[in-house]
Amino acid sequence: MRKARLSAQPADVLRFTSSIDSDKWIFDADVNVDRAHVVMLTEEGIITAETSSLILSALSVIRAEGISALPPEEDIHAAIESKLIEMVGEDTGGRMHTGRSRNDEVATCIRMRLRDELLKMMRELIGLRQVLITHAKEHIETLIPGFTHTQHAQPTTLAHHLLAHAGALARDFDRLGGAYTRVNQSPLGAAAFAGTGFPVNRMRTCELLGFNDTIENSMDAVAARDFMIESVAAFANLMTDLSRIAAELILWSTSEFDYITIDDRYASTSSIMPQKKNPDVAELIRGKTGSVIAAATGILTIAKALPMSYNRDLQDATPHLWSAAQDTLASVRMTAGMIDTITIHEENLARQATAGFAMATELADTLVRSCGISFRTAHQIVGRLVRTGVPPSLKAIDEIAVSIANIRLSDLGLDETAVSSALDPMASVRTHTGGGPAPDDVTRVIAIFEEKLDADRVLHNRRSERVNLAMQLLDRETARYV
Ligand code: ARG
Repeated sequence: MRKARLSAQPADVLRFTSSIDSDKWIFDADVNVDRAHVVMLTEEGIITAETSSLILSALSVIRAEGISALPPEEDIHAAIESKLIEMVGEDTGGRMHTGRSRNDEVATCIRMRLRDELLKMMRELIGLRQVLITHAKEHIETLIPGFTHTQHAQPTTLAHHLLAHAGALARDFDRLGGAYTRVNQSPLGAAAFAGTGFPVNRMRTCELLGFNDTIENSMDAVAARDFMIESVAAFANLMTDLSRIAAELILWSTSEFDYITIDDRYASTSSIMPQKKNPDVAELIRGKTGSVIAAATGILTIAKALPMSYNRDLQDATPHLWSAAQDTLASVRMTAGMIDTITIHEENLARQATAGFAMATELADTLVRSCGISFRTAHQIVGRLVRTGVPPSLKAIDEIAVSIANIRLSDLGLDETAVSSALDPMASVRTHTGGGPAPDDVTRVIAIFEEKLDADRVLHNRRSERVNLAMQLLDRETARYV
């Protein structure tokens, strides 16, 4: 490619400029982009059917032999073209790149591979959401302590807790889907940035490659990396949600908490301490979250000061995308497996549910409801009760209410039954509707979540099917010439 214009490049410079290592991610996509472009060039009469036949046959050999059989070049696009020319000669192979640039080519390849990664990730995420919902269904009445500030706050149920994560992950799914629609647009035909005078048919390559539409402005088509930023931002958001789950699993499996046991397959031991069972998988999910956030920062920082249109800096952004996609996909899978195989220590959870005066809010609410006093007064009465450390009885409450507000709550309608039911965690939980842990309400929310999950499955199948159909079309159209 460079031989006529430039002198030879020393090996160390070639190594520095080459993207070939990370181009393994786009090898298959690149062959498909080549095939679609060649089919379109033929249909438009830009190259002959005979040329097309030779190129397309050689491309199928190149695909079968794989990336390791390609000659050393600065990237996969140049390497495939070199190999092609080696196989069929320059007068034939040298026609493939008519009306095209590596700039629109690479953007097209990245979008195709990223589309596949997004589809895989969305499928795994559907699986994880299902695991959370399935376990929630089994634990609608399992009492657990609820926390704020990592301090005991109010009792809740395990179902309520798991559904909080499921809700966050449903939004992650939507964010990936939003990115998907903008990733799935074809830049092909933009050439270097200014389009081309050859009568290329952009809609046709768009169709053959399964894109939803084309990117209209050719300069935008080669320069844009917002689709990558948006995707990796969605990965970072998703990873942050997984990291919070991981952090809880780590905390909950300590001997101090002892709420759960993580299955052996997700644990490691120590090389020195024979008793150890460490939550390494969860820790690595938490750690990889840092790497994915770093990838997002990397891409943003590389892109932020680039003038129009293509700049080689962009090549350095792409590997961040692949490493982030790989870490995120694996983390979704690991989280689903870990939650699915977890052992829950229900008795300890129930015991802990009322520790740390977790019933205090319910008691204050009860004073308001039974006696008509203000919430602030009730808050102060219960607060003082907790501070004195006296067990909460009607008598103790009365004494404190007199000393704080000069009122006898038993005269205002408070009785033993109301006090003891305020101290019963399950009785309290049952009254917390409106998205709270009340079993009836949790059942209602589960139905809504399952309905959305079903709709997301349908959407996912439709998206995958569209891509599959396009790949079949590309195979059929290619077969006409070989
Ligand atoms: N390897 C390049 C990349 O990843 C492909 C595009 C090269 N274009 C160019 N004008 N040098 O961005």
